[in-house]
Parts: sequence; C-alpha cells; structure tokens
Amino acid sequence: MTLITRRTFLSAAAAVAANADSPALVPDKLERFVAPLPRLPVAKPVGTRSVPGQPHLRVPFYRIEMSQIECKVHRDLPATKMWGYGGMSPGPTIETRSGQGLLVEWVNKLPTTHLFEVDHNLHGSEADKPDVRAIVHVHGAKAPPESDGYPEDWYVPGKSATSYYPNNQDPALLWYHDHAMGITRLNLYAGLSGLFIVRDPIEDALNLPRGRYEIPLVIFDRSFRQNGQLDYLVSGIPGAPWVPEAPGEAMLINGKLFPYLDVEPRKYRFRVLNASNSRFFHLSLSHGKPFVQIGTDQGLLPAPVSVKSMMIAPGERVDLILDFSGHAGERIVMTSETFALMQFRVGAASIADTSSLPARLRPVPKIPETSAGKTRRLRLIEHKMGNGDSMMMTLDGKHWDMPVTENPVIDTTEIWEFVNTTEDSHPIHLHLVRFQILDRRRFNEPAYFRTGQMIYTGDPEPPEPFEAGWKDTVRAHALMVTRIIVRFEGYVGRYVWHCHLLEHEDNEMMRPYDVLPGPGAQR
Ligand code: C2O
Ligand code: CU
Repeated sequence: MTLITRRTFLSAAAAVAANADSPALVPDKLERFVAPLPRLPVAKPVGTRSVPGQPHLRVPFYRIEMSQIECKVHRDLPATKMWGYGGMSPGPTIETRSGQGLLVEWVNKLPTTHLFEVDHNLHGSEADKPDVRAIVHVHGAKAPPESDGYPEDWYVPGKSATSYYPNNQDPALLWYHDHAMGITRLNLYAGLSGLFIVRDPIEDALNLPRGRYEIPLVIFDRSFRQNGQLDYLVSGIPGAPWVPEAPGEAMLINGKLFPYLDVEPRKYRFRVLNASNSRFFHLSLSHGKPFVQIGTDQGLLPAPVSVKSMMIAPGERVDLILDFSGHAGERIVMTSETFALMQFRVGAASIADTSSLPARLRPVPKIPETSAGKTRRLRLIEHKMGNGDSMMMTLDGKHWDMPVTENPVIDTTEIWEFVNTTEDSHPIHLHLVRFQILDRRRFNEPAYFRTGQMIYTGDPEPPEPFEAGWKDTVRAHALMVTRIIVRFEGYVGRYVWHCHLLEHEDNEMMRPYDVLPGPGAQR
C-alpha cells in the first residue's frame, strides 16, 4: 500500500502568526481526555413548505442561522469566539432519507467584521466586497444548480437564502459548509460547517450499529492563542496575508480538544469527516488493531475492508466500524501521526450486541472505461514567486474568471485525468456528481513540462481498498496522474470543481463547470 504524504511547502520562517497579543497555545501542555466527546444534535424542521415551482410538493422546512458564538474547546481554555450554524460549531446535523427533499433557509446573522484578516488581492475578495459574506454548499449533495451554493452567490449579514435539496441519492454522510468566493478558508476556519446525513431502507436493513451506537466524528485542526482565541496563520507580507496552507497544532473532534468517549464493549459505527482547511489525517488506533471500513464519501463499500491506518484528506469521509468487544476495561487512543485525537474508554460490563456487520454491504457496479465518451487531461499547477514561495495554484493554468472549459453533456460519462505537476497531494472535489477512481500512475514530469508529452514511468496503481467506492473527493497525489470516471447525472447547469485545500481553493484552484443539456432533451 502506498501512502504518499504531502510535503509541506510552507517555510516556517515565512509564516508568522497574527494577533501576537497572547502567546501561542501549545496543546500538548493541556490535560488530555478531560471532556466527553460532544454528540452533535440533530436539526429540527420548523414546519413544512412547498418547493418553489412545485406547489404540490411539501417538504420539511429548516431555518438555520449563522452567528458569532462562544465555545469551550477545552476545560482549561477560556471560551473561543467562533462562527457557527444554529448557535453551534459544528452546526446541527441535518438528517433525511433518500428521496425525501427538504428546504433550508440559511440566515446570515454574522457580525459585519470578520474574525480573520481578509486578503483583498484574491480574486472575488477585492476591497470593494464586504469582508463578511456567506453562501452554503452541501458537499456531496446532488442539488439543482440554484441550490448548490455557487461561490459568487454570497450574501451579507441581514440577508438569507433558501436552498432546495431533493436528496435523490444513495445514503451517505454529506457536509454543509460555507463556500463564499475568496474567503471560504476563513469562513470554515471560523467554524461554518455541519453534517448532513442521508439514509434509506436498504441501509437500515443491514442492521449496522445505530442510534447511540452510530457516532459522527468531525475532525479538524486549529491554532489557538493562550487566551483561547483562534489564530489563522498569515504570510507576514503587509496587505497580502494569504498562506498556501494553514495547519494547526490542536486537533478538534466535534469541536473539542482531546475528548474521550465512554463506549460499551460492542460494535460502534463512526462516520468520520476531515473538515480541516489543509491537514491530512492518518488515523490509527493505539492498540494496533485495524479499523473496519464500510463506506467512503458517497456511501457504502461493496464489502467491509480492514485498514490498519488510513489517510483522509480535507473533504473526504470514511465510515468505520470499531468493535470494542474483547477490549472491556481498556483505553484506546485514536491518533494521527504524533497527535492524539481522542480516547475510547471501554466499559467493563458485557453487553448484548444485536447489530451486524454483514459481509456484503451494497453493490458498487464498476463504471466501464469503455462507457466514457470523452477524456479530459487537466493539470494541477502551483505558480511560484521569484523566491520560490507559492503565489497561487491553478487547475490547468486557468483562472476562475476565464471562460468555462469543462462542459460535459448530461447523462454522459467522462474520464478526468488530473496531472499533478506539484509536489503536494491535492484533494480534488467535483460538485453534483459521484465518481470512481480508476488509477494513479507516475509520469516523467520534467519531460511533460518541456514537451507536453506524457511518458509514464510506472504502472497504473488501483485505488486503495479504502477508497474503492463512490467518491466525490479524490487525492491527486504529487507527481502522478490520477484518473477518475464520472457520469454527469441529475441537473443541467453551472457547478464548480476545485481543490479542497481551502487555501488553494481561495487562490484560483477552483473552476466553474457546466453540465450541458443532451441533444434533443426536454429539460
Ligand atoms: Cu466541500 Cu466545493 O466543497
Ligand atoms: Cu490544492
């Protein structure tokens, strides 16, 4: 198994911390495992409403406010100013069934001053735009274009927007988060993110652990000051604070630093999201046992796979079964490299576990390569300044505001080849669709750079077992060609695709794409 770790290209000296009025917090100095893991509450609809344009279709209606909040991330830290949905961060979990549509009015009640310094040099974030703007996107949702949260459709405090999510898709853990042009990294770092779960009867029938034995884990890193306030790294260049990535030393799970979870000696289902701006997690367990993975971004795998350590990039999700039976009385820590994330405290009482872990979960029929009518070769490029520092990243050398070049026709299949010419792994995400990873392959990058000719230097490597299901975000590894196969289904219209390292996304590594109507189709 190859796990290619991304090299950090941010020289520590080039980056300085803002708000140096309080010293930087060293999380390891705090006592570990003093607070229980927060269970994320489920959002409640405030009524029902009819879907715009479909007066006979009434669906649950939610109203969720964005606002500034105070959160205790650790017992021994003062409360942290954050931005949240529904008065919390992560926001309340929206739960629905496959095919059960719903409406959400997303209300912007944020203050008019940002928590972090806005870089007005970035496209879409110029000084003539208000610093505080927001627009919600549901990551992984098959939503009509007008409800997808187009980055330029942001609105200011005092305004709101209502989105319709039809949820005609397989069960999966989705993620709602901010997507405002040029400041997505800052809005997410402030806390604007929450979960969205789709279920269906086929999944119910599998009898996986559920109810209090099914626990979502939203994992992300942050930097703090000793006064408890969030710190977002800045470049040190006056007026140009953007940094190419903003890793933090504090790992939060469901909003808490070093939480513990009391568990019974039985099976649990953990639904894990990496909600970091730019950190990759490498999850493993202190007792050395593997995870049993049952799902990826867009739902269940065909069969469970056993994974000792798994890499999860920003935007990716993994669905895990942990069986604590046989570990009664033990304490098990989930780690990522040298970081302790959380502790499981296994109770002593033996317990009857009526849940199952079936050997077959849900078929994931392979999309045949021969069904692809078009292959697009798309380069991932890092543009550097004279001194070697990152200036911006692009998709195929194109800026956000250049004419659309990716324009698949509805109900057709395409192969997208991401030619990563950089020394970083970039998690590439397409809105609207789900896809399968075909393979990754090394190539001669210098030759490609000079002549444009593709010379492979290795054999195609199939996806890791833990990513061999339906995906919506794929790690395009450094100096490799990563191929995905996608069927463009659902809606005609304008969407986006981008790198999910938010610092990259905000600095040109995002492009609009169009799903075009089919020939003669009446849509
Ligand atoms: Cu997680 Cu464009 O989104
Ligand atoms: Cu990137």
